[in-house]
This record gives sequence, C-alpha cells and structure tokens, in this order.
Amino acid sequence: MISRDTIHDFPNVEAAYAHAARRIATALRVPGSQRITIALSGGRSPIKLFELLRSGSEGLSKDIPWERVVVCWVDERFVPMDHPESNFGLARKWLLSSLPIPEEQIFPMPTDRPSPEQSAQDYEQTLRGLFASEVESAAANFPRFDLVLLGMGPDGHVASLFPGKPALDERKRWVTHVPEPGMEPNIPRITLTLPVLNHARSTVALVTGSKKQPAFQEALTNPRSALPAALLAPQGDMAWVTCFTD
Ligand code: 6PG
Repeated sequence: MISRDTIHDFPNVEAAYAHAARRIATALRVPGSQRITIALSGGRSPIKLFELLRSGSEGLSKDIPWERVVVCWVDERFVPMDHPESNFGLARKWLLSSLPIPEEQIFPMPTDRPSPEQSAQDYEQTLRGLFASEVESAAANFPRFDLVLLGMGPDGHVASLFPGKPALDERKRWVTHVPEPGMEPNIPRITLTLPVLNHARSTVALVTGSKKQPAFQEALTNPRSALPAALLAPQGDMAWVTCFTD
C-alpha cells in the first residue's frame, strides 16, 4: 500500500518532472569514488525527465558524477535495440548519448537471445556479476541499486510486473520474463522482480495523467490491493512524484 508520506503531488506536469529530475540528480550526487548503480524504466514518461537530466537545466546535470554511474534497466521489451519500442533505445537517444558514462558501464537487457526467458537468465547473471561483492558482504539475496526510476501504468503495473501475472509473484529470481503483458505494447518483456525493486536505496516513481489516478488511488487506499504499485515498498527512500491533471 502506498504510504501518503511518500507522495509528492503537483498541480502541473512541468513541476512534477522538475521535482523528479531534482530528486534523481540528488540521488546520483553520491560523494566519494564508488560506483553509483541506477536502473531505468521505459515508456514515454522518462523522455522529458531524461531531457531535463541531460540538458543540465536548473543546473541538474552538473556535479552529477556521471563517470561513476553504472546503468541497468528495470525492464525491457523483447525487441532489437533499434526498435521504436526498445527501452534501451529510448534511454540511449534521450539521455545516454549525451552523457560521459563509459560504454562498459552500460548494461542493457539482452534481447538477442533465443527467448525472453533466456534473456532474463542471462541478465540475472550479469547483475550477479555486478553486485557479487555487495551481495556476499551484505549476506543479502538481492542487489541494492542506488537509484531505481519507475513509472506506473493505468492498470497499476510498475516495471513489467503486471497485475495477476506470474512475474509479480516471483520472490527468488532477480530477473524474470513476461510472455504476455496483456496490455500495449503487447510485446514479451524482461523485468526486474519485486524483491529487487524493494531492495533499492532510493526509488523515484513518476506518475502523471488522469488515466492513472484510479489505480494510484486504489494502491493508496486499499490495504488489500494486489496491484503492483501497492506491493512496491522499497526499504530505502521512496518518492511517488505525481500529477493527475492532463
Ligand atoms: C515499460 C515501462 C513501464 C512504464 C509504465 C508507464 O517498459 O513500459 O518500464 O513500466 O513505466 O508502463 O509508462 P508511460 O511512462 O509510457 O506512461
């Protein structure tokens, strides 16, 4: 169930985007020299956010130690990277192509495997390599991203965890696959699982548009809601940045 004190609601989308971008910039300004791990969502919402982060408007992009940032994905559609529906392609176009993040620190979900299932297994191995030392030392079972960027669909899905689908119930795997999302784009998906999302150090979920308000309200008010947005309860800092006026 969404906790009211994690909600930052705004009267217009520009203010919501600006706030979300500032939050992300703050989460990325980690002092020191260690790497900073982020996981990006796709869809349309991040585009304006990426533009704000990339453009350095409001001084956002400066002081972010991009050279220390390691980029992963929250989810991906099982399409080639140059496909219009590719979340990697979206981030590359609107954000990554303009930032000094070393190529070897960018880890797209593979979509050239024989199946989404194989892609999910391979990505999990990639993440297990990336987070090996942290998971061992923390004796945790899940990786802890410094920042996870989420959206939410009108059905209350986050990442590619859709209501009532088996992927939402996965509690052991770090990455799983969704053969039938059941909503547009109805393309098989690869997705981080709920335990990984709930392990994040900081999460920013950007939810805009009146169509999303009913699902958000259910996740906020119904303690028995099984919507993915209601099940999202990260251990770390959580910010739902919302604007429901169109
Ligand atoms: C995806 C996203 C997905 C997205 C929501 C909201 O691959 O589609 O990761 O979880 O965040 O569907 O999408 P919009 O931002 O387009 O409304």
